Amino acid sequence: MACLFPGFLHGADYNPEQWLSRPDILQEDLRLMKEAHINCVSVGIFSWARLEPEEGRFDLDWLEEIINRLYENGVSTILATPSGARPLWMAHKYPEVLRVSSQLTRNRPGRRHNHCYTSPVYREKVRIIDTKLAERFSRHPAVLLWHLSNELGGQCFCPLCQAAFREWLRKKYGSLDALNEAWWTDFWAHRYTDWSQVEAPVPSGETEVHGLNLDWKRFVTHQTVDFARWERDAVKAVNPQLPVTTNHGESYESINYFRYRDVVDIASWDSYPLWGKDPDEAETGQQTAFAHDVIRSIKRAPFLMMESSPSATNWQEVSRLRQPGVQMLAAMQAVAHGSNSVQYFQWRKSRGSSEKFHGAVVGHDGRSTTRVFQEAAQVGERLERLAPLLGTCPRPQAALLYDWENGWALNDAQGPRNCGMHYLETAMAFHKAFWRLGIGTDIVDMDGSLEGYRLVAAPMAYLLRGGFAQRLREFVERGGVLLGTYWSGIVNETDLCFLGGVPGDGLSQVFGLESEEIDGLYDGQENSLLPLGGFLPRESYRLFQLCDLVNLNGAQPLAVYGKDFYQGRPALAVNRFGRGKAYYLAARGEQALLNDLIARLCREAGLQPALDGVLPEGVAAVRRDGEPAAVFVQNFRPAPVQVPLNRPYVDFESGAAVEGSLSLSPFQVRILL
Ligand code: GLA
Ligand code: ZN
Repeated sequence: MACLFPGFLHGADYNPEQWLSRPDILQEDLRLMKEAHINCVSVGIFSWARLEPEEGRFDLDWLEEIINRLYENGVSTILATPSGARPLWMAHKYPEVLRVSSQLTRNRPGRRHNHCYTSPVYREKVRIIDTKLAERFSRHPAVLLWHLSNELGGQCFCPLCQAAFREWLRKKYGSLDALNEAWWTDFWAHRYTDWSQVEAPVPSGETEVHGLNLDWKRFVTHQTVDFARWERDAVKAVNPQLPVTTNHGESYESINYFRYRDVVDIASWDSYPLWGKDPDEAETGQQTAFAHDVIRSIKRAPFLMMESSPSATNWQEVSRLRQPGVQMLAAMQAVAHGSNSVQYFQWRKSRGSSEKFHGAVVGHDGRSTTRVFQEAAQVGERLERLAPLLGTCPRPQAALLYDWENGWALNDAQGPRNCGMHYLETAMAFHKAFWRLGIGTDIVDMDGSLEGYRLVAAPMAYLLRGGFAQRLREFVERGGVLLGTYWSGIVNETDLCFLGGVPGDGLSQVFGLESEEIDGLYDGQENSLLPLGGFLPRESYRLFQLCDLVNLNGAQPLAVYGKDFYQGRPALAVNRFGRGKAYYLAARGEQALLNDLIARLCREAGLQPALDGVLPEGVAAVRRDGEPAAVFVQNFRPAPVQVPLNRPYVDFESGAAVEGSLSLSPFQVRILL
């Protein structure tokens, strides 16, 4: 589903239920939205108490009036299901809808996002309200998309969830014997003799059976995604045509977002980078680029940036304002990576309660003359000009592995570094090397296909599952370039170590080597990587944290360790396998090592950077492929910069020829054809 909407969406979360007693303000919103070039709003996310004020008594008229009036004024609606927060009557009457914490105590009614995903009562109440909304609105011409719930996440340890967990395990393993084997429960006499003994891992109970910890996390994802599916089925039962999304937070911990692949029609997320934290915005820009790439990769298709703050947040450590131009930069960055929208949280600042100081397009002063409002209006205007790019999307030929389940397992492993394995940081460091070069990457997990890629980087593929090793093998056999690293192929799907040599599951053949031991280094301790025969431009690179001691078995050494008792042993090697090549980086090193290594491998794989030129530090280039292919050149620095070009381009917006070099003012984004 490449493009669902007539143009780029420019919108915001709109919470009119907070202003029902102020019709003048609701009227003024319509005028202001026009001025800000807003063409859609997300409505109803936290409206349940107004939609069903008493059990079974529904009031949808006010919402219909709002949706109609917006539509008459050129603003479409993304309609939310209200399950992110419940009316108070429900929890008071049916306490089972409330979440139970890992302390095994039940939450009190209140806050939001604190419901049990298993509770049959909650699911039924959600189904009823979703059906009512669908019956009334899912064929309304104003309504573009369903916004299922809000930032689904967290865990519930209630008896219903624990029973569902046991059921899920029964289906997965078939017998207790199989579960005992998979979890290695004879260690410390943990053998289960009855299903009722299986409990979720909690601080006061079992926490050291790694297979249990891992399966619990998988179950939490399963149950959460199943809840989203439940809601999707409820609304699609009424109108199967109306597409659905659910908005993800920027979290790499609790829920494996790739599991939503088959549930949503379009992926979306809420982007709140720490703009203003670093002296320039390049570091934050790169981390945000990674997050956009993750979300696009869920469906390998355009996505939506469902929320972003037009100025500060009020929940980060400090509420830094965005420097002039950064709002536009953040908006264009999202579009560059494949977003078909720029949406804000929220349209109008709440007057009270916990988000009254969160940035919004319209502040408490209600004025459109503010800097924040004006910059949002400029974004809206610009998005209108970009309409011809709507059918395009980045189609990278490089893939980077980031696998949630792998991260859960290796962070829980107890060794080789309990002071930090840094899986996410490692994936981001690899991503950064591509980003600096202007070479796009999809992010794949171990269920993802490797079709269409010429280069795959798979750092720290510790846990192998889902036939991933086999797909890597075929990828290299067919002529692909693979970059793997230390701490790969160590355990199987249930976290049991491979016997008979690692990397396991056939990967040691692909890499032409075996890992015999791995050295965990204290923070501050270092080794060095010395390239052989000028394979990399520098004579030496800093290594730290993890150094793998490998025995080559067909692979050729490309670099060696500079010191310690393993001085002279291979630190980087390559193996020809089938028609391709598999590189193995044995140790964690400084960014320059990844930059130089990945640059070389990209050349070898024949990958073309988005921009034919030279990217200065802090400048990124990302291409939306298709007709026309457009390169978004983004300056993340607060200073003007010249970008040398090797061929002439045309500025997409002005139509002017750009030759020799491209000039960018502070934080400017220019789009080249
Ligand atoms: C999240 C939520 C919003 C709002 C914003 C504030 O993304 O989805 O409801 O709380 O955070 O940044
Ligand atoms: Zn529960």
